[in-house]
Amino acid sequence: MYNRGAFQEERFKIVDLSMKRFRRAPTLSVLALAAAFAASFFAAELRAQQDLAAAGQQKSTTCAACHGPDGNSVTTMWPSLAGQHTSYAVRQLQAYKDGERADPGMRGFAATLSEQDMLEISAYYAAQTISVKGADPALAVRGERIYRGGIPERGIAACIACHGPRGNGNPLSGYPRISHQHQDYLATTLRDYQSGARRSDATLNQMMRNVAELLLEDEIEALASYMQGLN
Ligand code: HEC
Ligand code: HEC
Repeated sequence: MYNRGAFQEERFKIVDLSMKRFRRAPTLSVLALAAAFAASFFAAELRAQQDLAAAGQQKSTTCAACHGPDGNSVTTMWPSLAGQHTSYAVRQLQAYKDGERADPGMRGFAATLSEQDMLEISAYYAAQTISVKGADPALAVRGERIYRGGIPERGIAACIACHGPRGNGNPLSGYPRISHQHQDYLATTLRDYQSGARRSDATLNQMMRNVAELLLEDEIEALASYMQGLN
C-alpha cells in the first residue's frame, strides 16, 4: 500500500544525502579540479613559450652575427638582446620597419621579418641570460643618484620609477630591461631620444624623449655606466 509518510521520509534522505555531497565538494573535487586545470594551463603555457623560442632560434642565425648566438652582442655598440622582454623587442623591430628608429642596418633586417618571425626571435632571446658587466666607479655614483632620485629641480623623472631598482623594466608596461646593457649603446640611444632620431616611444606618450631631452651629456655618460653595472 502507498504510505505517504514513508515516501516523504525517503525523499528527505535523498535531499539530505545530495546536500552533504554538495557541501563536501569544494574541499575535494572542485579544488583538485582547479589545481589540475592550473597545472595543465601553466604547462601548456610553458610549452608554447618553449616552442616559440625554439622556432626563433632557427630564425636568428642572421642576427647572431652581431647580437651573438645567445643574445650577448659582439661589440659594445650593438645592443645585447639576452633577457630582453619579448613585447618590447617586437615593438622595436616594428619601429625599425616603420622608420621610427633610424638605424639603416636594422631597418633592413627588420624589413625581412614577418610579425611571427619577430615574436619567435624575440622569445628566443628573452629566454637567454645576459652577461654581467661592471660600471666605472668614477661615473656610477653620479649615475646612481640620478637613476634613483631623478633631478627634481630640472623636472627629470627618476629612472627607477619605470626601469625598476634592478633595471629589469616591466614587460606589461613596455619598459625595457636596461641592466647589463653595453654602456656605449645605452649612451647612443639616449642621445637618439634626445635628438628625436629615435621615436619608438610615440605610442607611449613620448616618455623617453621627454626624459632624455633634459639630460646633459655628462649625465648621459654617468647613467649609461651605472646601468651597465646595475645588478
Ligand atoms: C650588422 C649587425 C646587426 C645585425 C645582423 C642585426 N642587428 Fe639588431 N641591432 C644592431 C645595432 C647596431 C642595433 C642598434 C641600432 C640603434 O642604435 O638603433 C640593433 C638593435 C636591435 C634591436 C633593438 C634593441 C634594443 O635594446 O632596443 C633589436 C630588437 C634587434 N636589433 C634585433 C635584431 C634581429 C631580430 C636581427 C636579425 C633578424 C638583427 N637585430 C640583426 C645590429 C645588428
Ligand atoms: C615614465 C617611465 C620611464 C621613465 C621615468 C624612464 N624611462 Fe627609460 N624607457 C621607458 C620606456 C617606455 C622605454 C621604451 C620606449 C621605446 O619603445 O622606445 C624606455 C627606454 C629606455 C632606454 C632604451 C633601452 C634600449 O634597450 O634601447 C634607455 C637607455 C632608458 N629608457 C633609460 C632611462 C633613463 C636613464 C631614465 C632616467 C633618466 C629613464 N629611462 C626614465 C620608460 C621610462
